[in-house]
Amino acid sequence: MTYLDEILKSRRDTRHFTKDPVPEEVIQKALQAGHWAPSVGLTDATKYYLIKSDSIKKAVKKLFVDFDQKAANQTDNESQKKAYKALKLEAIEEAPLGLVIGYDRSVLNHFTIGTVGSNEAIKFSSVCAAQNIWLSLTEQGYSMGWISILNYHQFKQLLGLPDHIEPLGYFCVGKPATNYGNQPMLQQLNWKQKTTAPFVQEINFANPINTATAKEPANRTTNSQTNCNTAISVALKAKIDHKTKPKGSLGFLEDIALQIGQIFQTTTPEIKKPHLIVFAADHGIAEHGVSTYSQDVTQQMLTNFLAGGAAINVFCNQHNIQLLVVDAGVNYDFGANSNLISAKIAKGTQSFLHGPAMSGTELDLCFAKGAAIVADVAKTESNCICFGEMGIGNTSTASVLMHILTKIPIKECVGKGTGASSEQLEHKIAILETAVQNYNKTDILEQQLAYFGGFEIFQIAGAMLEAYRHNMLIVVDGFICTVAYLIALKQNPLLKKNALFSHESAEQAHKKLLDYLDARAILQLDLRLGEGTGCAIAFPIIESALAFLNKMATFESANVNSK
Ligand SMILES: Cc1cc2nc3c(=O)[nH]c(=O)nc-3n(C[C@H](O)[C@H](O)[C@H](O)COP(=O)(O)O)c2cc1C
Repeated sequence: MTYLDEILKSRRDTRHFTKDPVPEEVIQKALQAGHWAPSVGLTDATKYYLIKSDSIKKAVKKLFVDFDQKAANQTDNESQKKAYKALKLEAIEEAPLGLVIGYDRSVLNHFTIGTVGSNEAIKFSSVCAAQNIWLSLTEQGYSMGWISILNYHQFKQLLGLPDHIEPLGYFCVGKPATNYGNQPMLQQLNWKQKTTAPFVQEINFANPINTATAKEPANRTTNSQTNCNTAISVALKAKIDHKTKPKGSLGFLEDIALQIGQIFQTTTPEIKKPHLIVFAADHGIAEHGVSTYSQDVTQQMLTNFLAGGAAINVFCNQHNIQLLVVDAGVNYDFGANSNLISAKIAKGTQSFLHGPAMSGTELDLCFAKGAAIVADVAKTESNCICFGEMGIGNTSTASVLMHILTKIPIKECVGKGTGASSEQLEHKIAILETAVQNYNKTDILEQQLAYFGGFEIFQIAGAMLEAYRHNMLIVVDGFICTVAYLIALKQNPLLKKNALFSHESAEQAHKKLLDYLDARAILQLDLRLGEGTGCAIAFPIIESALAFLNKMATFESANVNSK
């Protein structure tokens, strides 16, 4: 056995330490070994923090105790719980030294070789450093114990780590008091036996890769209830007309009730577990001063959504709508603990002023990821999804997409977005006109979309198509979501049967687009916030339509003359 083998085999996760202090030269040598570890793109993202203070160790121990209880409650049965509780899974207060190894996500704010596939490569690099440290300590006669049974969010708060630093855990460092019989402690205690040999398999067959694409298959099966002249439509119309009211006096509400009844193929339709999904992403075109806000605002607003402080949180809470927030491609690396659905395609699109915003593969990924999110929601038996968006610069992207897809002159497709002045609006129009002129025109839809696109817009389009496949009620928010709808409609014109338009926004192009689509919006409140706010506000009106259909008396039941 070589010396390296001996070190590798004798390295132990240690939870029993002597009281001997760790000499400075020992820890420095070990940290240098960590620094020698490979790192993706040669990043210097791994950071080390030393903890010697008893009061801090005590506070970390408290975090461990809280989470250890949570873990104990997750055990499979009582005897396992008892065995779990008997284990010693930390030595936070006994170990002479505490070490926190973390990685700095902010390195991802610059181009980093090797992170295009997964930002997690930064984390993996830190794990390589942790292993080098473990081996170096072992070689020097010391050891380490990895504690991950912690609420990482509180752990970061406790240590005052900035948001962009993500700790791998708390590491107890000291001289080992035992080697657990030269085997892992969990094995010595018969908790688990580690297999003697690694699992290795040669893969000699490549499966075809399955992604939904921007192009829907032409022969896709359609929902059976798309014909409005079915018996159910007749029954619904009769039911609406027999309510104790003059015919048509509930106006648009009657159309909404009829449409929802047609979607769900019943005269007593109900909305179940409504969801509102906000898709967010950044746009390269924002670099050219087309928005009054800086790109940073996208990630700040997402943080606000997650903290529950945005308008959409308030309205969703008010109307019992389940809110989901999706990172479709924000130019920021969110922490692993956030409640965000990660569907990041890249950190924002490229500017389409001189070249394509994204690749064809990225476009296909958008449709696939958007669809997958809705497929998960459908598993909850929800039958209604509202769509919202957030992304600084996305009115510009939406305007150009509207122009390309409808041939309406670009000027008429542009509006003030988040509130541009007349001067800023002129500048925005000029930039978008130049972008359109620079575009080497092709009529191939996918190429047009990839050239100008936005990650969140296409994920919404993919999500709407999937919602249609599950025969859900689709509630569309303002201008940007209506552009996403337009794109989805190009793939599947039957989508129209399932869609309701929540409001007509103050963005002037939205009215033109709704006219183009021959669509009527429920509300007109001069909203121009996005986030899906129009959907949430319109929701009680949609519910009112169902309430009158399901609960209002008929002339017959109330003994009222119909004439
Ligand atoms: C990512 C990671 C997190 C871990 N977290 C804990 C922990 O919270 N508490 C604990 O007692 N051991 C923890 N361990 C230690 C493993 O349980 C231990 O490595 C395993 O039992 C094998 O033992 P050995 O390292 O002595 O070979 C962790 C190990 C890893 C790699």
